[in-house]
Amino acid sequence: MTEAIQRTLVVLKPDAVQRGIAGELITRFERRGLRLAALRLVQVERALAEQHYAVHAGKFFYPDLVKTISASPVVAIVLEGPNAIPVVRAMVGATRPHEAAAGTIRGDYALVGLRNLIHASDAPETAAAEVALWFPEGVVSYTRDVERWMTDEGAPA
Ligand SMILES: Nc1ncnc2c1ncn2[C@@H]1O[C@H](COP(=O)(O)OP(=O)(O)O)[C@@H](O)[C@H]1O
Ligand SMILES: [Mg+2]
Repeated sequence: MTEAIQRTLVVLKPDAVQRGIAGELITRFERRGLRLAALRLVQVERALAEQHYAVHAGKFFYPDLVKTISASPVVAIVLEGPNAIPVVRAMVGATRPHEAAAGTIRGDYALVGLRNLIHASDAPETAAAEVALWFPEGVVSYTRDVERWMTDEGAPA
């Protein structure tokens, strides 16, 4: 069966950039086989922060969330690949880092919820909306020769 190719939005939050581990985190996704479809260093404006976290508006941690993601530049990335949305969520790990499994990004690098390093879309609808919000100019479409050795397209030949 051919798996569905999905796009998902990842944001390496200010703590990831400040700690100098953005490249390391991107490497994990590349190693997994996911393809970069867009990438941008962004100083997040309040309006973008509020829209991105609109689903959390009204929650007790919302003001801190908006402040935290606008505090310093982030790296916004669109990743593409078979089942990219659940694959990336699994690689990111649980929201609360003390509950995140070892081997996940949060389980390996983070300690507390507001410093959990990374955002990743959680479903096809949110992924589509978030990709459009962060990359209104669109993403880059291409394939890599190695794709056929990492996906089931062309397999088993
Ligand atoms: N109870 C909480 N206290 C403080 N910060 C929180 C809490 N819940 C969530 N957050 C922060 O808000 C972000 C968005 O929350 P949520 O969408 O539930 O998690 P996730 O990033 O895993 O999708 C989290 O990544 C985390 O930084
Ligand atoms: Mg979320």
